Amino acid sequence: MIRNAQEEDFELLVDLDANSGHVFYENNPNWKKGIPEWFRGMFDNNNNDFYIYEENEKIVGAIGLDKDFPVPNSCGIIFLAVLKEEHGKGIGGKLVQFLEEKAKGSGFERIFLYTSDDNVDAQGFYNKRGYAKINEFPGYYGWGQTAFLYGKRLK
Ligand SMILES: CC(C)(COP(=O)(O)OP(=O)(O)OC[C@H]1O[C@@H](n2cnc3c(N)ncnc32)[C@H](O)[C@@H]1OP(=O)(O)O)[C@@H](O)C(=O)NCCC(=O)NCCS
Repeated sequence: MIRNAQEEDFELLVDLDANSGHVFYENNPNWKKGIPEWFRGMFDNNNNDFYIYEENEKIVGAIGLDKDFPVPNSCGIIFLAVLKEEHGKGIGGKLVQFLEEKAKGSGFERIFLYTSDDNVDAQGFYNKRGYAKINEFPGYYGWGQTAFLYGKRLK
């Protein structure tokens, strides 16, 4: 089941991110301490809507829609994570499909996302779903890492 995220879900979303196997935290486990503050900024932003994938009342995945992406008629995927032990079961794909339908329903024509240059799995995942790499931004992330911008036309 996919549902809207509520304030009560906040801590569990932080845990989800920490346990998603994201390459960033796999390489820098200490940086998990910064997740609550970073996530709070995204979660409290009224331009972002978060959705949760729940199985047997357990949060196994989540996705965030950025309704204020700075390209006309466009939105962004601000967040996507699935618990590491649940990868490869189609949950991430369902979350992206769900978000694309929401975005289309709201009239957005294109959807974008940034991912780090070393997140090869995410790049493969998005490629399979029709997203194309548009540009590279060296030093985009605060710690100096390059970001890749991906995008897809929704209509
Ligand atoms: C990216 C992520 C959300 C995908 O979730 P998931 O539930 O495993 O995704 P799915 O099971 O729906 O799909 C996995 C697909 O990606 C493909 N994939 C995974 N790694 C890949 C790679 N390195 N190259 C090509 N394809 C790859 C799989 O083959 C599978 O394809 P299929 O749908 O045709 O079977 C998950 O890996 C995750 O949480 N990663 C850590 C957090 C993260 O990196 N988030 C994205 C930040 S931009």
